[in-house]
Amino acid sequence: MSTNHVEVHEANGVSFRQAPEHFFKSQPSKSYIVDEAQYKAWYDQSINDPESFYGALAKEYLHWDKPFTKVRSGDLSNGDISWFLQGELNACYNCVDRHAFANPDKIALISEPDEESEAYSITFQQLLEKVCKVAGVLQSWGVKKGDTVAVYLPMTPEAVIAMLAIARIGAVHSVVFAGFSAGSLKDRVVDAGSKVVITCDEAKRGGKTINTKKIVDEGLNGVQSVSKILVFKRTGNPDVKMTPGRDYYWDEVCATQRSYVPCVPTNAEDPLFLLYTSGSTGQPKGVVHTVGGYLLNAALSTRFVFDLHPEDVFFTAGDVGWITGHTYALYGPLSLGTASIIFESTPAYPDYGRYWRIVNRWKATHFYVAPTAMRLIKKVGEAEIAKYDISSLRVLGSVGEPIQPDLWEWYNEKVGNNNCCIVDTYWQTESGAHLITPLAGAFPTKPGSASLPFFGIAPAIIDPATGKELEGNDVAGVLAIKSTWPSVARTVYNDHSRYMETYLKPFAGYYFTGDNAARDNDGYYWIRGRADDVVNVSGHRLSTNEIETVLDEHSGVTECACIGINDDLTGQAVVAFISLKDGACDITNESEFTAFKKSLVMEVRGVIGPFASPKAIIAVSDLPKTRSGKIMRRVLRKIASNEMEQLGDLSTMANPECVPKIIAAVDSQF
Ligand code: WTA
Repeated sequence: MSTNHVEVHEANGVSFRQAPEHFFKSQPSKSYIVDEAQYKAWYDQSINDPESFYGALAKEYLHWDKPFTKVRSGDLSNGDISWFLQGELNACYNCVDRHAFANPDKIALISEPDEESEAYSITFQQLLEKVCKVAGVLQSWGVKKGDTVAVYLPMTPEAVIAMLAIARIGAVHSVVFAGFSAGSLKDRVVDAGSKVVITCDEAKRGGKTINTKKIVDEGLNGVQSVSKILVFKRTGNPDVKMTPGRDYYWDEVCATQRSYVPCVPTNAEDPLFLLYTSGSTGQPKGVVHTVGGYLLNAALSTRFVFDLHPEDVFFTAGDVGWITGHTYALYGPLSLGTASIIFESTPAYPDYGRYWRIVNRWKATHFYVAPTAMRLIKKVGEAEIAKYDISSLRVLGSVGEPIQPDLWEWYNEKVGNNNCCIVDTYWQTESGAHLITPLAGAFPTKPGSASLPFFGIAPAIIDPATGKELEGNDVAGVLAIKSTWPSVARTVYNDHSRYMETYLKPFAGYYFTGDNAARDNDGYYWIRGRADDVVNVSGHRLSTNEIETVLDEHSGVTECACIGINDDLTGQAVVAFISLKDGACDITNESEFTAFKKSLVMEVRGVIGPFASPKAIIAVSDLPKTRSGKIMRRVLRKIASNEMEQLGDLSTMANPECVPKIIAAVDSQF
């Protein structure tokens, strides 16, 4: 953990921004949280009396098959957190059935496939039937409550239908982002013990065809636990290989099922899903979220942060393979009975007008995206925005990485036309829902600050050197949370000790986020990037450790160290420093070295996925190490960021003579 103590004063004095008039004028009805006083009153109650606060909201927002008898128990020291004890509910019922009964013809999902001429929408009634059929197929295959089912699908409505079908029968979904390699899919399927995998024949993205089923076949080669694969025909290519007795086409098996299958009630504390995420060390962790608390916070945060009304249209550009897609493309909007746009393509396909045509076509009121997409639009696609009427937008969200104040201003002006509320939402896979975020229209914001805690979240800034909480304003350190909240991850799948070690033990009595943060003199929070070896590339959370493990296994590499550096487009980028085995490659021969570097990149793409590829690979004769042999990544980070004057204390370094050589290597190769 770095002791990245940041000065707070730069964050002070930034002017407050009030919600624009237009935001209020264009609301279908009045705000859910009308002003700062209401936010404060609710917030105080959520912290001081969570039992009554969440007890009432859980009854108001969710349908319970059996009422809970106790709102919460457990604490951060024991790691035995549970909410809504004895309560029974079904997440699918809450997201689909109750809306299908009340408003069958209301639009639930809007599909924007790769080819935009093929866009369509489905109603809650249609969604219910589609979900039931898949649920029936899974049950006919023997999938039972508590079993894990993997989903490896692109951003199509079928991904959402699959997740809901799994939840309907009380099983546990484990969605694997479709950009992951065969090897990463395998690791996740094996770790979760998934019995069934739901995928498609081929995927389409940016006009390209991806051989999804082939990747699945490769990944599942030799995996005994998987007995069935459900294959959605996305392209219908007849040449896609199907293994008889194991692989079944979605449309064919769904045709054999009834269009209604009852929901299987689940306990509030039963797992709803696993989602793998990268940490500082080792294998990705299967973060476990439970039905009751997760679903409630998905609904509450979507309602209050975005001020989402039933007649709104929510456009989350994030993929369902990540937590943003889980909470804000699926569970949040659908639990509230609000339409959600499912977007399969890229912001650049067929041109940079794509996002804006989607907003215009469906009159989207909310747009939620990672800053990296906005940086790309700002750089190459800005002229497209003005061509479209996107005045239906009321709230613009940002997620996944810090949004720099100048990008915030740009987003506000160019996309929002100064008429929208901007919500910079800070949260994590493990938090299930927003942690620190503005509530649209409720209180003023500051560009670049995630602002104030969401209900139930009591943030603490901790001095990483002493482990002591820093009280008051104008403090910087690492960010922890000292309350429990309904959607905090309950455990790491099959490894509760890892959960304790990673989140609850670093600072006893606190949940540790892994992020650096500051609290300014107005009590507003500023997230300052990770305090561990996690890098955030285009909003994808990557462990440098995982990439190092892949590179270390390459036959030409003796050892390596990966670090994150700032990047204008992707936020951060990975740089790999490698020392080569004797005779592995002549780095003075340019074409040989290029081919060698390519072989390393291909290795990372193959083992993890294309999004984890290092941006630069730098060959060095020696890596900087402490006397005890630990690689000093801090030094590499400073050199790669051209901050030579900040190399810091090198007295613990065993081999200081390597520093000038590394500087020269960076100069010549970067
Ligand atoms: C970072 C994504 C600054 C942070 C929802 C966190 C952010 C990690 C923000 C979680 C934000 C997320 N401002 N940083 N608004 N949102 N982060 O699990 O480092 O993919 O710990 O969840 O992204 O990434 P994850």
